Amino acid sequence: MCLSSVCHQSVISLSSVMLPLKEKDKPIVQKLLSAGCCARCILRFCCVRVQAAYRQPQQDTLKELQAFICDTENTVSEAPEEPPTKRVKLEPSGTDAQSEEDAAAVTLKEEESSVCVLCLGILHQFCGAPQAVKVRSHTVGHVQSVTYSRSRTVGHTQSVTYSRSGTVGQSDDVIQVKEAFKWIMQGLVAKELGRGVAVSAFEVGVEFIHEATDSDCHFLASACPDCFKPTKNKQVRRMAVVKALEKISDARFLKHYPCPPAQPSSCCSLQDVQCVHVSVFVAGRYNKFCRSLPQTPWVIDGERRMESSVEELIAAPILSAFRADGFNFSSSGREDVDVRTLGNGRPFAMELLNPHKSRLNRAEMKQLQETINKSSEKIRVRDLQVVSREAMSRMKEGEEEKTKSYTALIWTQKPIEREEITFIDDIKELTLDQKTPLRVLHRRALAVRQRVIHSMNTRFLDPHHFYLGLKTQAGTYIKEFVHGDFGRTKPNLCELLKTDTDILELDVESVDVDWPPAIPE
Ligand SMILES: *[C@@H]1O[C@H](CO)[C@@H](O)[C@H](O)[C@H]1NC(C)=O
Ligand SMILES: *[C@@H]1O[C@H](CO)[C@@H](O)[C@H](O)[C@H]1NC(C)=O
Ligand SMILES: [Zn+2]
Repeated sequence: MCLSSVCHQSVISLSSVMLPLKEKDKPIVQKLLSAGCCARCILRFCCVRVQAAYRQPQQDTLKELQAFICDTENTVSEAPEEPPTKRVKLEPSGTDAQSEEDAAAVTLKEEESSVCVLCLGILHQFCGAPQAVKVRSHTVGHVQSVTYSRSRTVGHTQSVTYSRSGTVGQSDDVIQVKEAFKWIMQGLVAKELGRGVAVSAFEVGVEFIHEATDSDCHFLASACPDCFKPTKNKQVRRMAVVKALEKISDARFLKHYPCPPAQPSSCCSLQDVQCVHVSVFVAGRYNKFCRSLPQTPWVIDGERRMESSVEELIAAPILSAFRADGFNFSSSGREDVDVRTLGNGRPFAMELLNPHKSRLNRAEMKQLQETINKSSEKIRVRDLQVVSREAMSRMKEGEEEKTKSYTALIWTQKPIEREEITFIDDIKELTLDQKTPLRVLHRRALAVRQRVIHSMNTRFLDPHHFYLGLKTQAGTYIKEFVHGDFGRTKPNLCELLKTDTDILELDVESVDVDWPPAIPE
């Protein structure tokens, strides 16, 4: 009887968005309404994908839902025998004389003050214009529209989602809180920015916390210890919760977790709003002309050993040109601190984190290259260009099959004559068995790797020195081939020349990776 009065009211003020609900959704809507869910969460669990339904005022949705469950008399009587909550029970002061307007007013007021058991308030308290303004004030500095928003909710929301989907819907079809939040906020933010929202390069991260339910998921750690590895990464932790929830049986879950969950007394709070530009990737090739420059910062026991590094010399000007917050450097292999990289250089790529500039024109790119070239005598760069994330993987593709060319300055213990070393020039496709070198054993697993030296050539210098040119499979340890590494590399140059040999200098002459594409001057 009380329900029908609401139904009557709702039918009158039916809003423009027609909810695509089916007969089978009725018990779900009824159950969730009585469990204390907000209107938007009910849409989520009815798997409604119409974005406009989430964007309309939530009071309108609520009225529509109430009208929906009242549509046929028998559905109401078929409802699960859960006690109706205060929200559905509309008997202000218990008088029938109360007007329908009053009844409706009470519904809405109660709706505003109670916190949804599923989204903890994210979809009703945080989806208003003030939040959009907040998001906007974070974005105007970047003068772009916002397309993507992420919400990370505490585990509570996730687990309830799962417990609920087990009983009322297909978990795959249930709309996630973050998805619904995104749809609502896109509408609001677009309105605030005064323009449409299209695909853009920005991500807005929105983080919520809810202290009261923070420990809700702790029982999962004992239910599924394998799912949880120590991590500080929130994304990884959230995935562990999802995994554990998938593994745990319904019976076990319900033993630990009330269904429906208790009504939270407070809404979660907005922890942080961040707007970041998606990463920009820059690639090129570098030369290194110095024998005392590591590729990456060299830190031993927290103490810095070399004043600079290839990575830092290249990154500093690029970071400032793109005004990025940070970077991630990778290259096609790497050279030792005392090895030079000559010729066309070594391919490298950098991920620029949250850049404030995403493109450079040809002239600017050339200018940047020149700035790097002039910043130090130790390095040079060429073929500098912006590339896609996907293209970057080409650098690592088939790395083992690529060839590299080197020049090594060799010392021999026994005096040698010019003709004594020429036989080396005729050696082709020499296969080496290389045990992991002693010098890298502390960071690499012990293994025997087979590598091929495709060809070699010699240039006599004096009775104790000659230059050895090598063309090898990538990943060959050249120093170990020369001195033998106490017999750990076989065959080796000492064996071939029947004398102790050592390597005095090493240069990389070429890294045969045809990426990134050469840029004509
Ligand atoms: C740097 O790249 C590695 C490998 O691609 C990735 O695992 C790591 O998260 C990246 N770091 C940052 C700060 O993006
Ligand atoms: C930077 O140095 C490299 C290597 O010497 C050279 O190929 C390139 O043209 C230089 N670029 C500029 C803009 O100076
Ligand atoms: Zn909700």
